[in-house]
Amino acid sequence: MTSFLRHPNGGRCKILVLGGDGFCGWPTSLYLSRLGCDVTIVDDLSRRRTDRSLGTSSLTPIRSIGERLSAWEAVSGERIRYVALRVGVNYAAFRDLIADVRPDTIVHFAEQRSAPFSMRSAREKRLTIEGNVCATHDVVCALAETGLNAHLVHLGSVGVYGYSSTGFPRPEGYLKVTAEAPCGTFEKEILYPADPESIYHLTKALDQLVLQYYAKNDRLSITDLHQGIVWGTQTEETALDKRLINRFDYDGDYGTVLNRFLVQAALGYPLTVHGTGCQTRAFIHIRDTVRCIALAIGDAPRPGERVRILNQVTETHRVIDLARMIGRLSGTPFEHVANPRLEPESNELDVSNASLLGLGLVPTRLTDALPFEVSGIARKYAHRCNRNTIPSQSCWRTGSAEGLARGPTRSPAGVHELKAGLPEKAWHDPDIAAPESARL
Ligand SMILES: NC(=O)c1ccc[n+]([C@@H]2O[C@H](COP(=O)([O-])OP(=O)(O)OC[C@H]3O[C@@H](n4cnc5c(N)ncnc54)[C@H](O)[C@@H]3O)[C@@H](O)[C@H]2O)c1
Repeated sequence: MTSFLRHPNGGRCKILVLGGDGFCGWPTSLYLSRLGCDVTIVDDLSRRRTDRSLGTSSLTPIRSIGERLSAWEAVSGERIRYVALRVGVNYAAFRDLIADVRPDTIVHFAEQRSAPFSMRSAREKRLTIEGNVCATHDVVCALAETGLNAHLVHLGSVGVYGYSSTGFPRPEGYLKVTAEAPCGTFEKEILYPADPESIYHLTKALDQLVLQYYAKNDRLSITDLHQGIVWGTQTEETALDKRLINRFDYDGDYGTVLNRFLVQAALGYPLTVHGTGCQTRAFIHIRDTVRCIALAIGDAPRPGERVRILNQVTETHRVIDLARMIGRLSGTPFEHVANPRLEPESNELDVSNASLLGLGLVPTRLTDALPFEVSGIARKYAHRCNRNTIPSQSCWRTGSAEGLARGPTRSPAGVHELKAGLPEKAWHDPDIAAPESARL
C-alpha cells in the first residue's frame, strides 16, 4: 500500500466512500481499494433513479452495484462492501454505521451534483438544497456525536468562487483582507467570498460554512476539495473489465461540457456552445480526480485546524476553444445556442492549484488526453445515445423555460463549419459578442 495511506498501526486504512456508485465515487473506490485500503461504499442509488425519471442513462452500459462489486473482487481479489443508505435522511442509521465501521477517512461525494438539474423548477431547487445541505450536515454531526477521529474529505466546487473576472488567481479557499479600524489595521484570512451562480453551487457554498463550524467547534479534521468540471470516463481500474466501466453523462442536465462535446462529436451532432462560448471554466480529468482524492486523504489536517481547502483543478479553458479543439479532431461543426444560464458571457479564470501539485499531482493535460477521448469511449457507445436528451431543458431565468423546452435557439450564423467558422480573431477575443438570438 502507498505509505501515505497506511494506517498508523500498520493495518489497512478504512475508508467510507459516500456516493461510491457515482461518476467520481466509483473510480475513486476502485483506486483506493487497489492501493490496499479497506473500502465501504455508501450510496442510495438515487442517481440511477434520476436517470430513469429524466429518460436518460449513462452512455456507457454501467452494471448494477452488485455486479460491479463482484467483478472487482474477481479482477483484483479485493472486496469492497456496499451499504444502501440515503445520507441526510436516516441520521441514526448513518451514525450507527460509522460507529460500527470506525473509518479513518470518509470521502463525501453523496450530493445532487448537477447545476442545470438544480435550476429546473422549485421542486428540484428544494430537493437539491435539502439533499445536499442535510447530507453534509449529517456527516459532520455524526462525526461530532460519535467522537470518531476520522478525516472528512468533502467534494466542493470551484463554482463557489463565482465566475466574474478578478485579475488574480482564485486562491485556495481563503482571502487575506485588511480593514482600517479606529484602533489600527485589522487583518484576517476569510473564506473567499462565495458567489454561487446556481442552486447547486449555493449548496456547496452553504456546505463550506457547515464544515467551518464543525472544524472549529468540534475539532474535526476536514478537507474541502474545490473541484473543477470533471471530464473523461475511464481510469486504469475501471478499464480492467467491461463490468467495471464508469458512467458517462451526456444529457443536457448531467452531462458536463467536455463530455457532452465528445458525444456530440461522435454523433456528428453540431457541438452546442451556450451563448458566446467565451465562458472560461476549470477542468480536471477523472484519472486526476481519483489521484487527488488519495493525495488529500494522505495529508489530513490536524483536528481543530481550519478546514483545508484545495483547488482540485488542472487547467482552465474557454468553452468555445474546447468546441474548436474537439471540432478539429473530429471534423464536427459547432453552433451557438441560447444560453440557459445567467452568467457572464465572457470571463477570465485563473485558479491556483499549488497544493495538489505540491503533494505530487502530475496533471493529465487536455491536449494529450483529448485525441484519445475523441476516438475512444464516446464513439464506441454513441449508438446508445438518446439524442432527445442532448439539449439542455433547464433554465436559470424564470419564464424562459418554455422557450428552451422547444429546443435550443440557433444563432443567425447557424452551424459553424470549422474551416469556415467564426473569424480566427473571435476564438481568442474574450469580448466577442453573443449573437442576439443566442441570448434569452
Ligand atoms: N462531476 C463533476 O464534474 C463534479 C465537479 C465538481 C464537483 N463535483 C462533486 O463531486 C461529487 C460527486 O459527483 P459525481 O459527478 O460523481 O456525481 P454522481 O451523481 O455521478 O454521483 C453521486 C452519487 O451519490 C449518490 N448520492 C447522492 N445523494 C446521496 C445521498 N443523500 N445519500 C447516498 N447517496 C447519495 C448517487 O446515487 C450517486 O451514485 C458531488 O458532490 C459533486 O458536487 C463533481
